Amino acid sequence: MNNFPSVFEAISDLSKDQIEGLLILAKKYKDRSYDKSDFTNRIPIVANSFLENSTRTKNSFAIAIKKLGCHYLDFNTETSSLKKGESLEETLLTLYSQGVDLCIIRTSVSHHFSEFKNNAPIKIINGGDGTNQHPTQALLDLFTMTELGIDLEGKTMAIIGDCVHSRVGHSLMELLPLFGCKIILCGPSGFVPESSDNDSIEISNDLESTVKRCDFLYTLRIQKERHSGTDQTKHYETYHDKYGLNKERLEKWNKNVPVFHPGPANIGIEISSDLMKSNLYKGYDQVVNSIHMRMAIITSILSNNDKNIGIIDGQRIRD
Ligand code: NCD
Repeated sequence: MNNFPSVFEAISDLSKDQIEGLLILAKKYKDRSYDKSDFTNRIPIVANSFLENSTRTKNSFAIAIKKLGCHYLDFNTETSSLKKGESLEETLLTLYSQGVDLCIIRTSVSHHFSEFKNNAPIKIINGGDGTNQHPTQALLDLFTMTELGIDLEGKTMAIIGDCVHSRVGHSLMELLPLFGCKIILCGPSGFVPESSDNDSIEISNDLESTVKRCDFLYTLRIQKERHSGTDQTKHYETYHDKYGLNKERLEKWNKNVPVFHPGPANIGIEISSDLMKSNLYKGYDQVVNSIHMRMAIITSILSNNDKNIGIIDGQRIRD
């Protein structure tokens, strides 16, 4: 895809046309109108580097890479020289020198990749950076919504939970309004911002009135690992009573609407087991569609023809 960014950090790095292009390509992969990308000269090498825990994202990228026919490198950061104090840039330049073309990285540091945007040591896809962004999750969520036949124009979706600390939430807030969807961020104070200057985003502390106004719901895990030094822990005990979704509540409020969750879910806290086992729950559809959307993103970044990668003092490290 022309002009696809070589460091894909945030939804705002893409134009709406590029996002629509990704949806079309993901659909083609899903419909198996073609399986592999057409790598004519050389089979690319793609590395997965996860500096934070992951089940869904890491495996979905790994499967997407293999389905595309790329070589796959599981770059084990725990046993790498990053643990000896090597900088991320030096590590990425080393991988590039070894022939790796693209690195999918997850890190606990927000905006970790911003420094590489004007001088990329290697092509990078953000697999989630701290509390900042998780753009591929939001894109696969959008793809899932279109696959379910949801037209976002004029609709309202609630994001319920720890919106302030959720990178998934931040990416959705950038993405869905581009398609005409309004968002209500719902949770206790401290989990939702006090205000928003974005016309498409409202804030609420009241679950019942929020859910009643929404066409579909997106619930988030409490990001406990990002709460050190805050007083957010005070919400943990009462969370399910005040903000948890379960079948009984949705039936009482007469809401027969799709419920999305990026996983991993803390069952009995933000969502009940009975709701996850019901046909309203779309978490597994999201996982299914993650493969095809990530195939589309990997193909687009690998084929962007950017020659300004891995340059030191005006020279490319390798061809
Ligand atoms: C999310 C993440 O890691 O940001 N999970 C995912 O990638 N599917 C959500 C979370 O950890 O709560």
